[in-house]
Amino acid sequence: SRLVVLVSGSGTNLQALLDAIASDPEGYGARVVAVGADRDGIAGLERAEKAGIPTFVCPVKAYATRQEWDEALAEATAAHEPDLVVSAGFMKIVGKEFLRRFGGRFVNTHPALLPAFPGAHGVRDALAYGAKVTGCTVHFVDAGVDTGPIIAQGVVEVRDGDDEAALHERIKEVERRLLVDVVGRLARHGYRIEGRKVTIQ
Ligand code: GRF
Repeated sequence: SRLVVLVSGSGTNLQALLDAIASDPEGYGARVVAVGADRDGIAGLERAEKAGIPTFVCPVKAYATRQEWDEALAEATAAHEPDLVVSAGFMKIVGKEFLRRFGGRFVNTHPALLPAFPGAHGVRDALAYGAKVTGCTVHFVDAGVDTGPIIAQGVVEVRDGDDEAALHERIKEVERRLLVDVVGRLARHGYRIEGRKVTIQ
């Protein structure tokens, strides 16, 4: 399978995918054909460049409207003919056109146990709420914010004295493994989405 991965930051989830593929290129069942971002100058793009993977950048501010940004992002993604699109720390909400083209084959990883703590600050919100466990969720993206059908989740304990960075790093250790496992299984075995239920064949 052909993967396009979308990033907005450090790209350590992307790196986990790249490392897993590099260590078993045949067996993993997918390869990253391009990496896209909504901003330049981020480590995620450097990781792609270092791996010799084509990149594209669609800054929201470069387009007259949000819809034009969404259409440009969809076009840039489609140019690489992905079978599966993976949002790995991509911090923008895609629109109708992107979902028209990639809905049902667009997964996201979120650093909380959805439906708890959706949105851009899931780690901070879980901490502030006083949750004793949190975790990460890999799900298909739908028109909502972090509301699509859940594929897999991992639980992470919250420790006394955790600050956001410490908790997020502990979550990411689980999240990277979960994302690598889920993307590989989706790619190798295929899957069905029926309502909110995801079945990997
Ligand atoms: C991940 O924890 C992801 O769930 C969240 O942002 C983080 C991105 O980390 N949306 P990285 O860029 O993959 O290191």
